[in-house]
Amino acid sequence: MTPRTRVLLGVTGGIAAYKSPDLVRRLIEYGAEVQVVMTAAAQKFVTPLTLQAVSGRAVRYELWDSSAEAAMGHIDLARWAQIILIAPASADFIARMAGGRADDLLATLCLATEAPITLAPAMNRLMWANSATQANIAILVKRGVRVLGPAVGMQACGEVGEGRMWEPANLAQNIMESSTNAGLLAGLKVLITAGPTRERIDPVRYLSNRSSGKMGFAVAAAAREAGAHVTLIAGPVQLPTPASITRIDVESARDMYAAVHRHVAVADLFIAAAAVADFQPVTVASTKIKKQGIAIKLDLEPAPDIVKSVAEKATRPFVVGFAAETNDVEENARGKLKRKKLDMIAANHVGDGIAFDCDDNALTVLWAGGKAEVPRGPKIEVARELIALIAKRLPPAATKRRPPRP
Ligand code: C5P
Repeated sequence: MTPRTRVLLGVTGGIAAYKSPDLVRRLIEYGAEVQVVMTAAAQKFVTPLTLQAVSGRAVRYELWDSSAEAAMGHIDLARWAQIILIAPASADFIARMAGGRADDLLATLCLATEAPITLAPAMNRLMWANSATQANIAILVKRGVRVLGPAVGMQACGEVGEGRMWEPANLAQNIMESSTNAGLLAGLKVLITAGPTRERIDPVRYLSNRSSGKMGFAVAAAAREAGAHVTLIAGPVQLPTPASITRIDVESARDMYAAVHRHVAVADLFIAAAAVADFQPVTVASTKIKKQGIAIKLDLEPAPDIVKSVAEKATRPFVVGFAAETNDVEENARGKLKRKKLDMIAANHVGDGIAFDCDDNALTVLWAGGKAEVPRGPKIEVARELIALIAKRLPPAATKRRPPRP
């Protein structure tokens, strides 16, 4: 039997807390094990007994409850959670979280956890629109907290506007669909490259390619959902940063190489999804090259092979490469797996209206002596399947950092 996803549901003080028992029930229907933690204010709206009855677990609300702490202390509770969902999240709780407070059990858990945190705000529309609340939300989003809602509609106070909690069914679906790999990479450090690189020719021109970066960003989001600490080194792309991820923007293959080598020493897993340039101009003209009506020649040299340089390190993480092929996908990708000393390679067939510059992908994933097909689907779903395949092949913690394959 597959273990159930461990969701810690934080309930804070707002009228929408009356929907929390329904939310618990729906999370359980999706296969979650739910531990409810309430703030003092939440208990004015819904009783711990109700939430205990629907969750099947004693509700926690006291930081200083020695009998509860003896069973599972607050730090254990923070570790137990694979996902934290705060619904409803009140203006006060959002402010306390933005301030990094640890003045009750729920706020303390949010500080002490490595699990991804999602907020479902619910409050009067003016409280939500208030610049204090918006500034607090901006702080939390910047720190990687995911925010679902609020929705627009009729409010309990009789006003109409933005401030309603997302409906329990939508919250449960969103949380559980992104939880398929919850905890699979818990606590691991994952370094990912994504997007194209730009190789300058002169101050206004460059060589690049059509990579959108979407696959690499989806892999980064999927790794974070699986509990990893993710550093994403991105070439020039127009994509929002996935929640809870450290992003480093670079331009050229050389910049990407340098950034990767600055961060790889602590990584347990390196996923090279970037479409790094294969060639770079030998020299970059310091002024714009003038057209003179005649052909010009560009001298190009090989760009550094980033993934190969990581795989060849004496101590190195588990290394996963990508291969975009137009023909003989498996044969070419297997060649790359060996030549670059990778542990795994994810190959896709480009030119079928998938992979490059679009939202769908399909992969053939290869490793020494093995293979798996990931069928066509949205990149985030394909990325989740890839993360699950990687997690299965990752060496146990003690041997994670090891010498290159012979
Ligand atoms: O050789 P090819 O470019 O097809 O290999 C693709 C794989 O190698 C990808 O994982 C890509 O990120 C990585 N790569 C790299 N540095 C390069 C070229 C490719 O890391 N200069």
